[in-house]
Amino acid sequence: MNAIRWEGDALALLDQRRLPAEQSWLRLDTSQAVARAIQDMVVRGAPAIAITAAYGMALAIAEGRDRTEASTALLAARPTAVNLRWALERLAPLPDAEIEAEAVRIHTEDRAINEAIGRHGGPLLTGGVLHVCNTGALATGGHGTALGMVRSAHAAGRELRVYAVETRPYLQGARLTTVECLAEGIPCTLITDSMAAAAMAAGRIQAVIAGCDRVAANGDVANKIGTYSLAVLARHHGLPFYVAMPTSTLDRRCPTGADIPIEERPPRELTHLAGVPIAPAEVDVWNPAFDVTPAALITAWVTEHGLWQAPFSPLL
Ligand code: MRU
Repeated sequence: MNAIRWEGDALALLDQRRLPAEQSWLRLDTSQAVARAIQDMVVRGAPAIAITAAYGMALAIAEGRDRTEASTALLAARPTAVNLRWALERLAPLPDAEIEAEAVRIHTEDRAINEAIGRHGGPLLTGGVLHVCNTGALATGGHGTALGMVRSAHAAGRELRVYAVETRPYLQGARLTTVECLAEGIPCTLITDSMAAAAMAAGRIQAVIAGCDRVAANGDVANKIGTYSLAVLARHHGLPFYVAMPTSTLDRRCPTGADIPIEERPPRELTHLAGVPIAPAEVDVWNPAFDVTPAALITAWVTEHGLWQAPFSPLL
């Protein structure tokens, strides 16, 4: 399952807003269209956003667009996922002629990084694994980070069952994670976000896993809204809480989670469900896309280099 396809003169993106009902691809041939697709969540997931932005820069060069202007627009598309900045900074010093090849390299490397995360993290998983949002092939260059751990564990024959929390309000768990699991025969049960405590109390969960959009230098993790409450619940129930973290998601310039910018999304994501109003249009809405889980609640950070513990300083 892939969500990003580079076609040399255009970028094809699987429109994740339409899944699971429809598999439709958008073909984008300007960097502006790419920035809009990131902002509108045609593509989402921190590593996938980074890959997409890199191809956006390749298109900017083909268009003859000012590189700084294009990079600023791409960077502004989603403010929390630091992988976006990481990819743009990796491209910045290169001459125009090398950008496309480097974007392809970022894409290819991401899959290998995820497979390494899977190798390190897979052996941690057995039984019920509660997973938030979507961190699979759709959110990355392939395989996935937290869901990549599941994928690797399943391929190694480990007995497990994913408990996918639906992930209000955008429903990445219900719409995307379940699809990825079913496609690979990974046992999967869909629950609402508010069922997590009951599932833990019922003994259905043996570990909680999450991806990340930005990890501060002290190990605090910004990830999909609801991750923090799952970490608190895991601690209460004595369960391990693992964060799958490609090291491109570590932001050494953010000392703590309090320094991480948290994206706020349009009210409509709460007031409407699949285009149908479910709340008064005029109601006040707060819609942060991410929250911050303190490092103290995290059992281990699973990176492509192995399991990390905070503080990271000796490991950097
Ligand atoms: O708003 P989204 O769907 O982009 O949020 C995605 C997440 O929170 C993921 O957990 C994170 O980006 C890691 S994806 C490997």
